[in-house]
Order: sequence, then structure tokens, then C-alpha cells
Amino acid sequence: MADARPFHWEYTPPPVTHEIFRVEGGLALRGTVPISGAKNAALKMMAAATLTGERCRLTNVPEIEDVSVMAETLRDLGVVVDHPAPNTYEIASGDVDWLFVPLEAAAKMRSSFILLGPILARFGRVIISNPGGDRIGRRPVDLHVDAMRALGAEIEYRNGYYFAKAPGRLRGGLVEFPFVTVMGTENAMLAATLAEGHTTIRPAAREPEIDDLIEMLRTMGAEVERTAPDVIEVEGRRRLRGADHRVIPDRIEAGTFVVAAAITGGQVAVEGVDCDHLGAFLEVITRMGVSVACARDRIEVRGAALGSGAYAAADITTAPYPGFATDLQPPTGVLLSQATGTSRIDETIYEDRLEWLSGLARMGATVRILDRHRAEIDGPARLVGRELEIGDLRAGASIILAALAADGTSVIRGAHHVKRGYENIERKFLDLGARIERLPEETVTHA
Ligand code: EPU
Repeated sequence: MADARPFHWEYTPPPVTHEIFRVEGGLALRGTVPISGAKNAALKMMAAATLTGERCRLTNVPEIEDVSVMAETLRDLGVVVDHPAPNTYEIASGDVDWLFVPLEAAAKMRSSFILLGPILARFGRVIISNPGGDRIGRRPVDLHVDAMRALGAEIEYRNGYYFAKAPGRLRGGLVEFPFVTVMGTENAMLAATLAEGHTTIRPAAREPEIDDLIEMLRTMGAEVERTAPDVIEVEGRRRLRGADHRVIPDRIEAGTFVVAAAITGGQVAVEGVDCDHLGAFLEVITRMGVSVACARDRIEVRGAALGSGAYAAADITTAPYPGFATDLQPPTGVLLSQATGTSRIDETIYEDRLEWLSGLARMGATVRILDRHRAEIDGPARLVGRELEIGDLRAGASIILAALAADGTSVIRGAHHVKRGYENIERKFLDLGARIERLPEETVTHA
């Protein structure tokens, strides 16, 4: 008998390997930490490689779970993805036999939706799963779909999938977003590189990862230019060529390690960064009294002694770049718990990105979650090690930070969330003198 199971809403994601981090807190971090390539640039570049049949070579790609998921998703489409050396990927999309991005890919990683633009533009059609939401909020993709329609695509939504086709070739046009969207901008830009004629995208997001993607596209022969801070213009080409491109450093990983040094009273050189990409964040933490010195590609951080109350409270409001990055809101929130006075967080990008604060509160922080977007933190708090479960990538990294500053041992479940976006996080912390282990869950019985 045919398998009559409904295929979408009853989908259960494949089992993940359950691992935990065990962290003994209270040690000041010391040393130098190298920063990996930017996740949110590398993933889009892997997708951009499908715009050409020629080979693209990406270096400084972070060795993280999301990159492996993107590589697998591309391979399932029939793209050749080689991984000849650590941090290097070579992608050749000559023959793509399945113009289909399944729910499995979307369920593992929302950014699989970045394949919509390039595959549609190059092959004229694609069926792609709706990635829906995740633990930080609803996160719809309506703006991506509207952008493709503005470029002449016909898109229908059925049973959880977008069926997209471009009769003939996509046509350049005006893509106007009601507000700034990072991946929406990228999807529109990738699609426009192979469309017929001129495309204007506004307001275009200004994140540095987008400018790095523009660099790669230009090496591929695309005519793309940021003609004003929030305008990107593209003149479509019939064909693009292969490219060699090095991914920029991950500013969110860099910010995470800056906070790690500050909250443990450590002295750490964060190496291989671009300080210009961290402006709003560095401005806040400098105002709080953290000693940071930026020199070329290095940030030297000198933290105040643990529990000294030397940092001043601050208010942060997340915003699109060059504003304060939402992805640095959770790490910075940990630092706010160590500052004297009341700090405020206004999370304007996501609906549910304050939930992690209840974990911080369980560790001893005084937190008031006022509504889905606003919270207050009173400090300085003495944090204590706890057994906790983490629900998403940035929240997870932040609970590790809190554990590093806490008295005693923390057991943090859900390590796979952190592996999605941080290369070898426990190795990097160990090299800075932290006591942290990643273990299979069954080996841990209590905190
Ligand atoms: N939005 C819509 N409709 C859309 C697209 C977005 O309503 O079609 C909303 C989102 O729900 C959100 C806001 O617009 O409330 C902004 O979302 P945006 O599209 O800018 O985010 P994104 O492109 O999906 C990227 C990063 C995120 C980062 C945000 C904001 C990648 C793969 N992801 O997401 O990174 O938080 O920009 O800077 O580039 C992370 O790395 O942990 C992460 C979540």
C-alpha cells in the first residue's frame, strides 16, 4: 500500500546527538583567540556558487554545523561540494538534477531559503520548503517571495512548499522592502545578478557580510554595486564565472569572546577581526568601562575583576547594521548582569529573543522581562553554576559565558545549538584557560 502519511506537519526532525557542556566558572581568561570566518557570509557564498557552472573556491569558511548542513543540502541537489582542506570548500554546480530544497534542510537551518534566488535565477525553477520559524520568533519569508515576484517570478505556496518559476529569464526590477531584511536583500541581489536588465534594491541591508558577498559576486563577473548606503543596484548578466574568495571574520564570534574576557576579568587578544564591523557594540562596552583597544585586526580586552562592580549599567537597543547587532544582544546581556545599576534591553528585531534571560536569572541574575521586546537587568549579580537547557545558538553561547563567570559548575544541555555557529568553541575557551568540556549527555548525571 502506498505510504499515505501527510508529509509536512507531522515531520519530526532527525535525532541530534545530545551533548552537554560542563563548565567550571570563576577563572579569568588569558591569551589569544583566533576568530573564524563569518557564518552569515559563508552560507550565502555557498549558495552564490550555484549561480555559475564553474568552480568556486571559498576559504576561511568556519567549520560549523550550519556549513555542513548547507554542503549536504547542495550535494542533495546534485552540486559537487568538496572540502579539500579545513576551512576550504570548493563548489561546482555544473549539473543540478534536483531543483528541490526539502523540509529536512529547512528544518535544520532557516538560511537554506537563501537558495531560492540563485537556483531560480540560474535554472528557472525551484521547489523550496518554507523554513517557518525557530526559537527566536516567527521569522516569515514573505519579503523574499515578494522580491522574487518583483523580478518576474511566479510563485505558488502549497503544502508547506514554495513552487517558484521564472518564465524565460528573471527580469530586473525595483525591489522595495517595507523594512530592512538581511537575507531578503541577499536573495534579491543573488537573483538579480542573472536577471535581464537593471535591478534596484532598497532599503538594502548594510551588514558587512552583504558587502563581502558583493565582493565575491563581482569576482564572479556580476555587476553589483552599493550605490548609496541603503541602495544596491545590479545589472544582470547572462553568465557568471567561478571565483576564489576569502570569507570575512565573524564579528559575532569576536564580540562573544570580547564579552568572555570582560566578564571573567580576563586579558584576551581577539585576533583576526575587523574592528570597524563592531562599532556599536564596542561603543556600548567602552561606555560600560570595559578596556578595549583595537589595532588593525586585533582587539585587546582587559576585564575588571570578577564581582568588582566596576562596570556601569547601559541601555541597548538592537537595530539593523550599523546599529547594535541583535546577535550580540544575548552575550552583552550577560555583561549587563555584571554592571552596577539597572540596564535595559530593547530587542527590536525579534519577538522571542529575550527568553534566554530566564536561564540567566536561574543563575542568579536579577532580570525583569517586561514584554516580548523589553527587559531590565539589575547588577552586579553573583552568578552561580546551574544545570540548564539552551534553545538556540546565541542564547547557548551566552549561557556558556555566564557559566564561565559563575561560581561552581554548570551543566548546559543542547550543545548542538552552539555547534551550529561557533567553530570549536570549547577548544578556543580551553586555550584561554577555561575549564570546559563537551560530553555525551548520558555521561552526566548531575551538575
Ligand atoms: N522578516 C519578515 N519577512 C521576511 C524576512 C524577514 O517579516 O520575509 C522579519 C524577520 O522575522 C525579523 C526581521 O524581518 O523580525 C529581520 O530579519 P532579517 O531578514 O534581517 O534576518 P535574516 O536575514 O533571516 C540574518 C541572520 C541572523 C540575524 C539577522 C538580523 C543569517 C543566516 N541570519 O537573518 O543571524 O539575527 O540577519 O541581523 O544571515 C544568527 O546568526 O544567530 C542569526 C539568527
